[in-house]
Amino acid sequence: MAVSRPGQTLTIRRPDDWHVHLRDGDTLQAVVAHTARPFARAIVMPNLKPPITTVEQARAYRERILAALERSAGPAVATGFTPLMTAYLTETIAPEELERGFGEGVFTAAKLYPAGATTNSDAGVRDLSHITPVIHCMERIGMPLLIHGEVTDPAVDIFDREAVFIERHLKPLIDNHPDLKVVLEHITTSDAVQFVQSGPANLAATITPHHLHINRNALFRGGLRPDMYCLPVAKREQHRLALRAAATSGNAKFFLGTDSAPHLRHAKESSCGCAGIYNAPYAIESYAQVFSDDGALEHLEAFASLNGPRFYGLPLNEGTITLERCEHDPAAAGLPAILKLANGTANPTRVVPFHAGEQLDWRLQDANNPSTAFTES
Ligand code: NCD
Ligand code: ZN
Repeated sequence: MAVSRPGQTLTIRRPDDWHVHLRDGDTLQAVVAHTARPFARAIVMPNLKPPITTVEQARAYRERILAALERSAGPAVATGFTPLMTAYLTETIAPEELERGFGEGVFTAAKLYPAGATTNSDAGVRDLSHITPVIHCMERIGMPLLIHGEVTDPAVDIFDREAVFIERHLKPLIDNHPDLKVVLEHITTSDAVQFVQSGPANLAATITPHHLHINRNALFRGGLRPDMYCLPVAKREQHRLALRAAATSGNAKFFLGTDSAPHLRHAKESSCGCAGIYNAPYAIESYAQVFSDDGALEHLEAFASLNGPRFYGLPLNEGTITLERCEHDPAAAGLPAILKLANGTANPTRVVPFHAGEQLDWRLQDANNPSTAFTES
C-alpha cells in the first residue's frame, strides 16, 4: 500500500467484495459494472427466484453475469472480473451436489438463510438440525458456510435478532463443528464483533459500508427512509462504533462485503418496502471515507484486499487501484440522488444509491475503466 501525503492518493492491492447481490436479467445488466469497477472478484449471493441450488444453475448464472458485464462494460472489464458462486442451502439440498460443485470450482461457498429472515429466503432452512449431513460434508471438504445470522422468531425484537441468533444457533453450530469455516455475514452488533474476535481462526465476518456509516436513526430522519432499510437492520450508535473499530483495526477476521442489494425505486418506496441498500456505485469510496475519518487508512488494504482471500484460501489479486482525495475540490458535486442505469432495454433501471446526494472525500481513479460509463441524473 502506498499513501502519498499530505493525502492526495492512496494505492492498494485490488480488492474483492465478499458479499454482493447482482440479481438477474435487466437489473443484473444495469448493476454489474459497478461491482466490477474496483473489485476483481465478488461472492455472488444465490437468493434469486428460484434460488441457485444446483451446480448447473450456478454455472449458467455465472455465464449470465459475465455476458451482462461484457455487454455493459466491454470484454476487457469482463475478463478482469471473476464472480465466485454460492449455493443456497435448502432443507433438501444434497451434500453430494455441494461437494461436486465445490470440487469442480463452481461453488466457492454455501449460503445459509434462515427461512423468512430476509429477501427471497422463503426456501431457506427452518431448522439447522435438518441439514446436519450438509454441514458435516462442508466441514470435511473445507467449504465455507456463509450465514445470514438472524433468528426469525417473531417474538424476538428485530433489533435483537442477530445477538439471539449467535446465542441460540451459532455457538452450538461452532461447538459441534470445530473445523467448519464460517463467515458471519454483514454483522451489525458489538455482540457479533466480540463473538467473532474471541472465536477460532475459522470464524470470520464481513462488514458493509452502510453499517459503518449509519445507525438506526437514519431510518427515521425527518420521516420514513426506505433507502436506509436493509437486513440485518442498522442498530444503535454503540454498535456502529464497535463495527468501525473492528473493520479499521486490521484484524484478519474482518473483511469487506458490501451486501449491495439493489431494489427498484418503486419496490423500496412502497407501503411494504424491500430490504436492501444499493451501495455498489461508491462502495470502495465509502469504506475509504470510514478508514480516513478514523485515521486508519493503513489498514484499508488488509480489510479490502488481504483478509478475505486469506480466509477463503484464494490468491491475492494482482494489480492495484488508486483512490484520490477530493474533499477540497470545489468542483466535486454531490453524488446523484438517483441513478438511471442502462439495462439493454428502452427503460433505464432507476435506483437510489447509498450516499445519494452526499459528498465523499475519496474517488476512484479509473479513467481507463469503461465500466463507469453509466448515465446518472
Ligand atoms: C438482501 C437482498 O435484497 O437480497 N437484502 C438486504 O437487506 N441485505 C438480502 C440479505 O442479504 O439479507
Ligand atoms: Zn446480502
